[in-house]
Amino acid sequence: MRSVCLSLLLVTACWALPFHQSDFLEFMMEDEASGDAEGPEFPAIPEGPKCPFRCQCHLRVIQCSDLGLKSIPGDIPSDTTLLDLQNNKITEIKENDFKNLKSLHALILVNNKITTIHAKALSPLTKLQRLYLSKNLLKEMPANMPKTLQELRIHENAITKIKKSSFQGMSHVIVMELGSNPFKSAGIEAGAFADLKRVSYIRIADTNITEIPKGLPSSLSELHLDGNKITKVTADSFKGLNNLAKLGLSFNEISSVENGTLANIPHLRELHLDNNALTNIPSGLPDHKYIQVVYLHANKIAAVGTGDFCPPGFNTKKAMYTGISLFSNPVPYWEVQPITFRCVFDRSAIQLGNYRKK
Ligand SMILES: *[C@@H]1O[C@H](CO)[C@@H](O)[C@H](O)[C@H]1NC(C)=O
Ligand SMILES: *[C@@H]1O[C@H](CO)[C@@H](O)[C@H](O)[C@H]1NC(C)=O
Repeated sequence: MRSVCLSLLLVTACWALPFHQSDFLEFMMEDEASGDAEGPEFPAIPEGPKCPFRCQCHLRVIQCSDLGLKSIPGDIPSDTTLLDLQNNKITEIKENDFKNLKSLHALILVNNKITTIHAKALSPLTKLQRLYLSKNLLKEMPANMPKTLQELRIHENAITKIKKSSFQGMSHVIVMELGSNPFKSAGIEAGAFADLKRVSYIRIADTNITEIPKGLPSSLSELHLDGNKITKVTADSFKGLNNLAKLGLSFNEISSVENGTLANIPHLRELHLDNNALTNIPSGLPDHKYIQVVYLHANKIAAVGTGDFCPPGFNTKKAMYTGISLFSNPVPYWEVQPITFRCVFDRSAIQLGNYRKK
């Protein structure tokens, strides 16, 4: 220990002496001038971490967005954890594009022009958790997506079909965003979501599906199916969805909600059924314990009864409503009796409004 301290002191002392310093510099210059490669070994000047041309690299995060790239850069460091390639002009993902990226957690490819992803391209990404592919030109779900995925965002593509096998084994998915794809009426095969045992959020909005997908996982807490062409709500679509808290069905063509639907989703808190073709208030609301928000505006509801929303007595365990909307329905609002809303938290929570005949 003592000798180490001593030699450190000596080194410091040496550097402090001017003639030694110049000696050292002279020696270096000499070496350079002679071009002698065999000279005494100097520690190699550490190379900066590899970074693809024009990208920015910091702490294993590689930012290559908005660069006009037409393909995936070839020299991405293998320890990269996040790769951002959004807003480029990438047209294709080839078999070996991600070959060495075994540490990658997040891959962002939003807003490119990707039409194809090679069937084996995603296989090497054995740690991938987030895959963002929205705003591309994909016609099919990518094959062999990593089973580690927790979040898949693939809205605004040209995908027409979700096969039963599309999400096979993807039991870690929590969030799935599939909106604005041109799914056909039978575009989502029954059971396509069966393996998503932990999924909590699914959005399939602004597609043209005509039915509520079958076989939704019981872990689901939010389901957004707004802006589709669904014509009816059947009770068995929601069988076993004990965790469902938010259900969005606005802007469809729903004319009926089958009796028993709400009983199948006992923990629902928010129900959006506005901008549909309903002619009456869905049944089951007075018996539902937790529902607090019900949007029913812009439908064809012609009558509202005093028993449509609230249980008969005041002494019940029903959660108070915090939002009910009924405007733009053909019901004359002056005919709706105030007692109809006896289990509403505050009068301002009700939007009744006027109906104007067009
Ligand atoms: C749904 O169908 C309409 C025509 O009825 C079409 O204009 C629209 O683009 C379709 N949506 C998608 C996401 O394909
Ligand atoms: C649905 O329930 C309502 C009352 O909640 C009842 O009047 C109606 O007959 C039921 N309809 C069917 C088809 O069972």
